[in-house]
Amino acid sequence: MQPKTISDLLTQNIVLPEVEIKGWVRTFRANRFIALNDGSTLNNIQCVVDFENFDEALLKRITTGAAIHVKGELVESQGKGQKVEIQVSRLEVLGDSDPETYPIQPKKHSFEFLRENAHLRTRTNTFSAVMRLRSSLSFAIHKYFNESGFYYMHSPIITGSDAEGAGEMFKVSTLDEKNTPLTEDGKVDYSQDFFGKETNLTVSGQLEAETYAMSLGKVYTFGPTFRAENSNTSRHLAEFWMIEPEVAFMDLAGNMDLAEDFMKSVIKYILEHNREDLEFLDKRLQDEEKTKPQAERSEMTLIEKLNFVTDNHFKRVSYTEAIDILRNCKPNKKKKFKYLINEWGTDLQSEHERFLVEKHFKCPVILFDYPANIKAFYMRLNDDGKTVRAMDILFPGIGEIVGGAQREERLDVLKEKMTAINIPEEELWWYLDLRKFGTAVHSGFGLGFERLVMFATGMSNIRDVIPFPRTPQNAEF
Ligand code: 4AD
Ligand code: MG
Repeated sequence: MQPKTISDLLTQNIVLPEVEIKGWVRTFRANRFIALNDGSTLNNIQCVVDFENFDEALLKRITTGAAIHVKGELVESQGKGQKVEIQVSRLEVLGDSDPETYPIQPKKHSFEFLRENAHLRTRTNTFSAVMRLRSSLSFAIHKYFNESGFYYMHSPIITGSDAEGAGEMFKVSTLDEKNTPLTEDGKVDYSQDFFGKETNLTVSGQLEAETYAMSLGKVYTFGPTFRAENSNTSRHLAEFWMIEPEVAFMDLAGNMDLAEDFMKSVIKYILEHNREDLEFLDKRLQDEEKTKPQAERSEMTLIEKLNFVTDNHFKRVSYTEAIDILRNCKPNKKKKFKYLINEWGTDLQSEHERFLVEKHFKCPVILFDYPANIKAFYMRLNDDGKTVRAMDILFPGIGEIVGGAQREERLDVLKEKMTAINIPEEELWWYLDLRKFGTAVHSGFGLGFERLVMFATGMSNIRDVIPFPRTPQNAEF
């Protein structure tokens, strides 16, 4: 049987003649009260020791960060703040912690400092709450797709293709760096590399997911993806996790319906199952907001924002309409935007996305029908010949959280687009085969998992919602 956790003891809230718990000491007060945490809940269990009954040398080892094992009676608490506590009868130190050098002191640490100590930061309330939510969200995602008849597909991590055509890839190679084999014309001879061709870490599992959608019908991937884009922002990682559903016979409207229903469902799940952690993070965010100037403060609390997504219809707006709104809006006219919107065809920046969501529509927004030349090659060209059936979902505080599209299912149009941007047919022959053998309308999207976790936890830096962030100049741990 699994041992009981602190969460079990606190939620059952009944007294018991004997319980035992293992955990890490948060604090030890007055040589009497140990606040013990085992990661199962935000809350510590209070362990009361009568110091007369224990060796002084043993009690000295009860320091913040130490791993201990306690046994005793679970009794009604005499003090405030908890209903039950453990009256300790046996106490054992499993692992000492040097109080002088243990980085996680019982005080407020900056997120910057905790990032440098990412191996220990989940011993704090904020990070344990964030990571429990991350775990819950991934469960909710699998649950949603499983209950909706989707198959979970594992797309490869090492690929020979650039799904997004943006060239932001990490190379995978075992060639000798000092003695790289070259071809006659002086280029690297990848035929001698491990895979006999140039390979990289995947930027998206979409292209492979399309092959499975065109046989199994409804599939999704959920795995790590890698981008060597040198954008050192609070919303970009070099390694992040993406959820990519792909569905045969579904058009762009169906894709939007799926994405909206999916997003609402996973957020509802955490509202129902992670209340305690959400309330803690809600309060944390409110405290943080208080330190900002009035004008920059969010109008909604974290839980209000989550309810706002589950309760509101996602507004669907074409790129063309959005550009009209942005061109004529105050911050554009008063030159408050860093990137001014002048003409149709420009790509939107996060400041524009956030303006649309937070100031103009005041609800989640799905932008669709983008100009073809700012979107990836695989998107379905509209009859106007200049826009594609793309869709991006924009969330308050985040901007783009989902990017997706109806896929180009016509062989000739797809070939033409690939030629135009120099993607050799030999590289994606298998992708083109899907258009030769039983092609059909199909669509899908990609949700950036860390952006979802940011939204759900109210954390403002993406480095704080993944265990060990990989960003330019940083791959510690
Ligand atoms: O918009 P993107 O680039 O779309 C795709 O990769 C498609 N193949 C998805 C599909 O249709 N199956 O990326 C999808 C999402 C973005 O909306 C964003 O949330 C997230 O992935 N994302 C990142 N998250 C963290 N760090 C980065 N560097 C990210 N780049 C994209
Ligand atoms: Mg995108």
